[in-house]
Amino acid sequence: MLKKGIQIKPAEGKLGVLLPGLGAVSTTFIAGVEAVKKGLASPIGSLTQMGTIRLGKRTEHRVPLIREFVPLADLTDLVFGGWDIFQDNCYEAAVHAGVLEKPLVEAVRPELEAVKPWPAVFDSYYVKRLQGNHVKTGKNKMDLAEQIKADILAFKKVNSLSRLVMIWCGSTEIFMQPGAAHQSLAAFEKALRADDPEIAPSMIYAYAALALGIPFANGAPNLTVDIPALLELANKNGVPVCGKDYKTGQTLLKTLLAPGLKARLLGLSGWFSTNILGNRDGEVLDDPESFKTKEESKLSVLEYILQPHLYPTLYNNFYHKVRINYYPPRGDNKEGWDNIDIFGWLGYPMQIKIDFLCRDSILAAPLVLDIVLFLDLAQRCGMRGIQEWLSFYFKSPMYAPELYPEHDLFIQLMKLKNTLRYLRGEELITHLGLEYYD
Ligand SMILES: NC(=O)c1ccc[n+]([C@@H]2O[C@H](COP(=O)([O-])OP(=O)(O)OC[C@H]3O[C@@H](n4cnc5c(N)ncnc54)[C@H](O)[C@@H]3O)[C@@H](O)[C@H]2O)c1
Repeated sequence: MLKKGIQIKPAEGKLGVLLPGLGAVSTTFIAGVEAVKKGLASPIGSLTQMGTIRLGKRTEHRVPLIREFVPLADLTDLVFGGWDIFQDNCYEAAVHAGVLEKPLVEAVRPELEAVKPWPAVFDSYYVKRLQGNHVKTGKNKMDLAEQIKADILAFKKVNSLSRLVMIWCGSTEIFMQPGAAHQSLAAFEKALRADDPEIAPSMIYAYAALALGIPFANGAPNLTVDIPALLELANKNGVPVCGKDYKTGQTLLKTLLAPGLKARLLGLSGWFSTNILGNRDGEVLDDPESFKTKEESKLSVLEYILQPHLYPTLYNNFYHKVRINYYPPRGDNKEGWDNIDIFGWLGYPMQIKIDFLCRDSILAAPLVLDIVLFLDLAQRCGMRGIQEWLSFYFKSPMYAPELYPEHDLFIQLMKLKNTLRYLRGEELITHLGLEYYD
């Protein structure tokens, strides 16, 4: 029984939310927070705003709201800032993204217009389908990192912020694997000065944030902070980090369904997933190099959940294919199809078909809010490095080198809630429950 919990610093003062990339997800998130603050809409999908947590025995009937159980920043204390390669303010970007209906966007227009992007650190080598002119120039990548830091410090000063969190909502960069420049902080800093191509723009933002002691989350599948050099910096500066790639849409459904199939020991011979998507994200992912980054992130999920090495009869050699097709008429309203070939008792085959007509940014926005609030909480608890308890939010959760990632959404949720119980000195819940029948 844990009694004491952790000393948690109070959530006093304003929390700055730094967003590299002010596109569909960011603007849907900001507009949503502003609409919730005005009482125009509900924060549906957000665990921090609507979720509860059971404490103690079932007979105790103690089920507070999570936001009353742990000290989280209040929505009224959030201040937004960000960078983009386009000059559009958040109102213009939200209209362009076309996710939200006009009356809602108009209702929060002044708040959205007030968020004007700072020039981005960008290079189209890393995102082939985009060209923008609202971009920084500098003598080398270290200089660009210094400029990001200057933006952050000015934003902090002007808005009298007490804390900050950075969350990557920029486009998906090309597929990269950890290389020599990523192996240590010293090598990384040398590479920044040498303009090494191994340093992608997202890494420059992450470096700037961590160097200033600001927690960093990665909403895209890019490598970004998932390299030894930046984890070294996070640990050195006592900063929490998490990622990668928001778990929404088709992968969310996959991690709901696959644990169920495994729980019932139903076999899988194939899982074919295809999507049509017409927003800017879809356009970027139409480039094979950016798609490769996304594909890796989407494919690993089933392998880890189904554990073919433990269940060879059920899951050896299942065929798994994921496709994303850019189809402009759909905008942000994605359609994702899954055809799942399973088999049961005596090997008899069956099929499951899913047609998910989802809204990508509507699913992602509450995750952005939760990740920001929980990372800020982690920072105030003195937690540093990878925050595996936030795997719940990601398609490719970051994890310690000696582990494998946990993808099962229900285990992830239990882990998240048990972490909150641990922080507050409450008993962890095991679901054993034998004592009720003694
Ligand atoms: N919507 C979802 O459900 C979901 C789920 C998982 C991951 N993601 C990822 O989240 C990210 C954002 O998605 P979105 O739908 O908002 O895309 P989007 O294209 O609407 O927005 C991305 C924005 O980032 C900007 N950008 C690109 N590179 C930048 C840089 N180096 N610095 C600053 N800005 C930069 C672009 O100009 C664009 O405005 C994408 O990487 C996407 O793959 C989204």
